[in-house]
Amino acid sequence: MKLMLAKEIDAKRIRELTVSNNIKRTDKNKIGFIDYPIPSLNEYKRRIKNNPYFFVLKEKDKVIGFNASYTKNKISKFDVVDDVLKHTIKKTGKILFFEQLAIAQHHRKQGLSYKLYFKMINKAKQKGFDKILSILVTKPITNKVSKHTLEKTGFKLLEKYKSKDKLTFAIYLLNLKNKNEN
Ligand SMILES: CC(C)(COP(=O)(O)OP(=O)(O)OC[C@H]1O[C@@H](n2cnc3c(N)ncnc32)[C@H](O)[C@@H]1OP(=O)(O)O)[C@@H](O)C(=O)NCCC(=O)NCCS
Repeated sequence: MKLMLAKEIDAKRIRELTVSNNIKRTDKNKIGFIDYPIPSLNEYKRRIKNNPYFFVLKEKDKVIGFNASYTKNKISKFDVVDDVLKHTIKKTGKILFFEQLAIAQHHRKQGLSYKLYFKMINKAKQKGFDKILSILVTKPITNKVSKHTLEKTGFKLLEKYKSKDKLTFAIYLLNLKNKNEN
């Protein structure tokens, strides 16, 4: 298994993982991306291009998982920026936005999500980011696995945000700087 930066050629498989894990706000017993607006193939290619914070896990050259994070500048070029994201990128500081994580069904519960978390966190530290922010839907359903893994990797709840289309989000923060250094 290899953990590496995503390439534009991986966009198709990444998009498939997004599509297959997209769930509706009424799917109370599933975990996935809740009512997530699915980026087009070209949009994913743009998000991947020159992005040192978009990682894939590959087994025999097949993408079996990914996590996608972005700088403010990269997000501002997304084709759609919804209100919670607009709100979140107003935060000050050198911030990385951790946006998506998915592991293919047959490879779950083997600790792979943490491999992707640690890769992202180490890269952000190495590049001098102050913090990482992540947005999690909490109402009408909470992705309990994401909540658990965010908290276990050190993210803390910063605030709640209610969007125009009536989803409630928790905005999580991972502080990367030692308090004494600020
Ligand atoms: C969420 C997801 C990425 C987790 O990936 P994973 O590789 O299976 O997770 P891990 O094996 O690293 O497990 C992480 C922790 O969550 C727990 N966990 C994983 N899947 C679980 C499940 N279905 N139910 C309960 N706990 C679960 C593990 O036991 C582990 O807990 P621990 O740290 O206390 O031991 C994966 O389920 C997924 O792709 N889901 C669909 C997309 C999604 O929901 N993405 C997140 C929203 S951005």
